[in-house]
Amino acid sequence: MLRVGLIGAGWVTQHHLAGWQRLAPRAKVVAIADPSRERASRRASEFGIERVYESAEALLDAGQLDAVDIAAPREVHATLVRMAAARGLPVLCQKPLAPTYDEACALVAEVAGKTRLMVHENWRFRAYYRQIGAWLKAGRVGRVTQAQMTLLTSGLLPDAQGKLPTVERQPFIATLDRALVMEVLIHHIDALRFLLGDLTLVHSRLGKQCTGIVGEDRAALTFTSESGAVVNLLANFCVYGEPPAQADQLLVIGEQATVRLAGATLSRHGVEAEQLNYDLGACYLDSYASAIAHFVDALSADTPFETSPEDNLRTLALVEQIYARG
Ligand SMILES: NC(=O)c1ccc[n+]([C@@H]2O[C@H](COP(=O)([O-])OP(=O)(O)OC[C@H]3O[C@@H](n4cnc5c(N)ncnc54)[C@H](O)[C@@H]3O)[C@@H](O)[C@H]2O)c1
Repeated sequence: MLRVGLIGAGWVTQHHLAGWQRLAPRAKVVAIADPSRERASRRASEFGIERVYESAEALLDAGQLDAVDIAAPREVHATLVRMAAARGLPVLCQKPLAPTYDEACALVAEVAGKTRLMVHENWRFRAYYRQIGAWLKAGRVGRVTQAQMTLLTSGLLPDAQGKLPTVERQPFIATLDRALVMEVLIHHIDALRFLLGDLTLVHSRLGKQCTGIVGEDRAALTFTSESGAVVNLLANFCVYGEPPAQADQLLVIGEQATVRLAGATLSRHGVEAEQLNYDLGACYLDSYASAIAHFVDALSADTPFETSPEDNLRTLALVEQIYARG
């Protein structure tokens, strides 16, 4: 059994721990650390975690671990990865690996050879993206010429109580100077890279409407893919008429078929047509569990991580270029 230490006990860890539970008895979270003992203890009692610590140092010093799962804020990821790597423990670290591309590069170079590191980039593990990826790989879309991904929400418009739903859900988003792209669209850029191969940034325009957060809340981005497709990503969290919750929309136009993800419906129209329906809530939860299962599978089989640091740095490089262009 893989004995896992979880560092961080915030919002996202409910999904991590549900994912780890599915892997029993192959793996088990046996210890949890958070400076908020209250949060760590709550997760421990919810998920039957034996040991609770108030610091990552204490958790690591106590030993009896085979791997570490990091779900703390981005500012401390690099420090925590280095601490685990110094003890030779394999690490699954939440995105973004570090607050900047340069810091992430320095970290990856430093830990290479010391331990195995996987970035917890779960979006591409969503069932509908796996299905689109399978269609593309099987040649059932043909050469992709254009793609358009859209993420429009009203999550940063005040609701009837004057609250911002996105901030209510995850308060730390309000404090981020790099908000929409580094926190949210990093997933969409990675999913587009997963589907279409590496991307080159052609155009970027960020903007901000919401005064209740520090960082940007809209982005209009254009990339080209290796095969020459033009790829647009339009995102805005201050859109009247859209729901507060996120739902990706994607259109992929190929020379042999069109793929459309619209809410819970995924369709492929070519000479023949097919349509699949998904439970979006289940896909969301499953993506964490799938990323975690991939970590455990790749560790036990000693095979490469799909979301390796080297791969993830290519996503982060695009994110950094987007902020540089503003
Ligand atoms: N993959 C996804 O879909 C997804 C979704 C949400 C969040 N995230 C990522 O997960 C991470 C955490 O997000 P969250 O929503 O849980 O944030 P959060 O603010 O709810 O929780 C962060 C927790 O980390 C704790 N913490 C701070 N410093 C620590 C340290 N040095 N050691 C241990 N714990 C420490 C805090 O006390 C807090 O309990 C972020 O990197 C975020 O980008 C990923």
